[in-house]
Amino acid sequence: MSDSLCDIGFIGAGVMGKNLILNLADNGYRVCAFDLDHSRLNALLEQDGGERGDAPARVEVCNSYTELLSKVKAPHLIILSVPAGAPVDDVCNKLLDAGLKADDIVVDTGNSLWTHSVERAKRYEGKLIFFTTAVSGGEVGARFGPSLMPSGDPYAWSRIEPVLHAIAAKVDPGSGQPIERFEPGNPVTEGEPCASYIGPIGSGHYVKMVHNGIEYADMQMICEAYHVMRSSLAMSPADIAAVFREWNKGPLNSYLINISAEVLATTDAETEQPLVDVILDRAGQKGTGLWTAVSSLEVGCPAPSIAEAVYARALSTRKVLRTRAAQKLQGPVVEPVEAAGRAEAIAQLHDALYCAKICVYAQGFDLMKLAAREQGWQLNFAEIARIWRAGCIIRAVFLQSISDAYERDTRLSNLLLDDFFARQIAEHQGNWRRAVADATINGIPVPALSSALSYYDAFRTESLPANLLQGQRDFFGAHTFARVDRPEQQKYHVQWSEPGRPVVEI
Ligand code: 6PG
Repeated sequence: MSDSLCDIGFIGAGVMGKNLILNLADNGYRVCAFDLDHSRLNALLEQDGGERGDAPARVEVCNSYTELLSKVKAPHLIILSVPAGAPVDDVCNKLLDAGLKADDIVVDTGNSLWTHSVERAKRYEGKLIFFTTAVSGGEVGARFGPSLMPSGDPYAWSRIEPVLHAIAAKVDPGSGQPIERFEPGNPVTEGEPCASYIGPIGSGHYVKMVHNGIEYADMQMICEAYHVMRSSLAMSPADIAAVFREWNKGPLNSYLINISAEVLATTDAETEQPLVDVILDRAGQKGTGLWTAVSSLEVGCPAPSIAEAVYARALSTRKVLRTRAAQKLQGPVVEPVEAAGRAEAIAQLHDALYCAKICVYAQGFDLMKLAAREQGWQLNFAEIARIWRAGCIIRAVFLQSISDAYERDTRLSNLLLDDFFARQIAEHQGNWRRAVADATINGIPVPALSSALSYYDAFRTESLPANLLQGQRDFFGAHTFARVDRPEQQKYHVQWSEPGRPVVEI
């Protein structure tokens, strides 16, 4: 490595950090890395050595925050890949102690809670420029091209934009498909980068949080389709993998369908059982799906399928209780579908997944829209869908259609009202309803698929039973109600204990 200063200081060389560093190096950036755990820096150097062969070292490592600052060009550009929460502040404070200046930029790439990013930008104002870029795509994405959702100070963005565009996943502008080349030292430089400035601090992590909420629901719904195929269609994991591979050729084409097929087609080397059968059915979570569900409740924007996906993970962890309940609680006897009916049942599940997926995206985009209104962010939804077409976990062919919908109408109030998506659901909803009904009759839980259906039905219902609900509220709490035959701002209350129950204007 030459003696000249590095372009970027990088803190945190865990799985994501190491891969982001190598991605930066592939794209010609000179990076100096620091991690409190020196073994990670050794692993980084080793991987760099293995990948570059005889070429000169592409990354440099150091032993302290002070050394890091001395080895990076000023004003410093420091990228963090440390666990969300207290470690981010810890590193910022250590950098300040080491001499970081007010015009130095610190970029948080972790899965931080968006409100923490807002607080941090305020806390460090005048001391450093706190910027964030949310990263999606797991370790392979980090190494060869993630989807990036940057937000914060516009000056910081102008400095970091070329860096993020270089390392981001790319999409072929003609086909809208990801350009995937997973070759160390040979980064994808052509195509449209999946990195766009989202807006003021907090907005990028909010968008990433909703991405993860959608991810939770998408994963859960695939698992529900698997569960039905496994239970009432009595299909093997390998058979289901074949179905998913088939689905991956059509509108459901996505990374998550693809990896689900991979998991189902894998055999456990030790037991020679399908791998999925030796994996314990307790789902973990790091919290971003939960944050999305909580935010949807706070904003008052329904995202029931995302919330159901979080609940499904929670219920899965109660394995001991479920095992007891399985012995005690009665359900219907699962009616196996005859071989002749299998293709039809699979087609129904396909359409159920497709329609429910449209509803989940409708929920997620609606949530972003309402949150943006509350926060005063100008989110570009066509662009958000565009940067999710490659690199991220929810990447799917389908995202091009979402981007197109928001291009057609930038003020679209809900994705379900777009003509294309309205038509898709109109055409496929019969199968969706049958799939949910059959699963319900057979006692197979499909919480995300069915909640998406209820969302769709509630959304398209002009008169909901909320009138009775308002009556109930007024009965026990004098909470008042508006009348259909008077201006909505006029409120009424019934004197329930009076004879004739007179209605009085409040
Ligand atoms: C991504 C993923 C990733 C995710 C973690 C943890 O976009 O790359 O969403 O950021 O947060 O893999 O996910 P869990 O909450 O399922 O543990």
